[in-house]
Amino acid sequence: MRQDPLAFLSTELDTLRTQGLYRSLRILEGRQQATSVFDGKTVVNLSSNNYLGLTTHPKLIERAIQAIKDFGVGSGSVRTIAGTMEIHMELERRLAAFKKTEAVVVFQSGFTANAGTVSSILGKEDVVISDELNHASIIDGCRLSRATIKVFPHKNVEAARKILSELPAGPRRLLITDGVFSMDGDLGPLPALCDLAEEFGCIMMVDDAHASGVFGANGRGTVDHFGMHGRVDIQVGTLSKAVGALGGYVAGTRAFIEYLYHRARPFLFSTSHPPSVAATCIAALDVLEQEPEIIERLWDNTRFFKAGLSALGFNTGLSESPITPVIAGEGSLAMKLSDGLFAEGVFAQGIAFPTVARDKARVRTIVTASHTKDELQFALDKFKKVGMALGLI
Ligand SMILES: Cc1ncc(COP(=O)(O)O)c(C=O)c1O
Repeated sequence: MRQDPLAFLSTELDTLRTQGLYRSLRILEGRQQATSVFDGKTVVNLSSNNYLGLTTHPKLIERAIQAIKDFGVGSGSVRTIAGTMEIHMELERRLAAFKKTEAVVVFQSGFTANAGTVSSILGKEDVVISDELNHASIIDGCRLSRATIKVFPHKNVEAARKILSELPAGPRRLLITDGVFSMDGDLGPLPALCDLAEEFGCIMMVDDAHASGVFGANGRGTVDHFGMHGRVDIQVGTLSKAVGALGGYVAGTRAFIEYLYHRARPFLFSTSHPPSVAATCIAALDVLEQEPEIIERLWDNTRFFKAGLSALGFNTGLSESPITPVIAGEGSLAMKLSDGLFAEGVFAQGIAFPTVARDKARVRTIVTASHTKDELQFALDKFKKVGMALGLI
């Protein structure tokens, strides 16, 4: 009988089990919302990126259904052949107006937007200067580009300056940061990085995946939040988190976007969104523009929950956003906290190495606009109970 050449993977999985780091996928039954059913258990859900509750917003659902009726369920092609529908273009025009840039191109996900953009604008003679906690999709894009990668310690603008001042003249430079860091919830130092980019002639790029729909007027992102319009050359946003559907977009000049049409590999070689996804995202933009009170509710809940965790004495890091880590330290302890909370009816995913540093394992919480104060208070009570039992507070 043929030996399984992948048998070594089972050994790797056994190691994860021994370390208490093995995770099975939690299965969501029904809708993604503030209280949901995962693995057959009803839990207060602090693990989704559904910041504004738009995954189940009636206007979005209605527009998606209408688009399926009008245009069918699939686009049938990549964008550059027969898969650019008028509704894709309408979404891009709406996003460009929303972001106050000349143009926007939509990708299948935020991941492909980052990876496809960085890898298409840089080559092996170029240099990218990147925050150490930037998202995996940026790191993969950098690697695919074959550019030299210079990593600066998290948010350390002086270290980035030192790297830039030591670079030889000539190579193209891309300075890149997350707008909101996905595991810690803190903000990239955008104004100082824009200054640096201007001083050293860098292309400035920000990944606003977790800022889209959350920061800035009507959720326009960190560029708007910090008043940096016109100073960031490349803005990436996602349609998969606060916007409630799926996709990523890149905003910038018309020439830059047209270049991506020709060179960004996910755009060229992977089928475009079903029309219902584009329609959903257009409806989400309507909601962001017409119902900004949803964003206010998100921030009100964020303040309430953060204050509650701090009052209990948890280490919640330096978050400035609705993402609040509860740092446990060792990986297995974070997993115990997560499992204990789940048993008590609260879903907050445990995150360990390699997603975060070995000694910074945590459960990550994200409140949404749809949580009620009662749901959040219930979660805080359970954090207190499980946290005390584990000696974390
Ligand atoms: C900072 C950051 N950038 C990009 C992405 C990718 O976005 P998407 O889920 O739309 O692929 C994520 C999602 O995990 C993220 O956290």
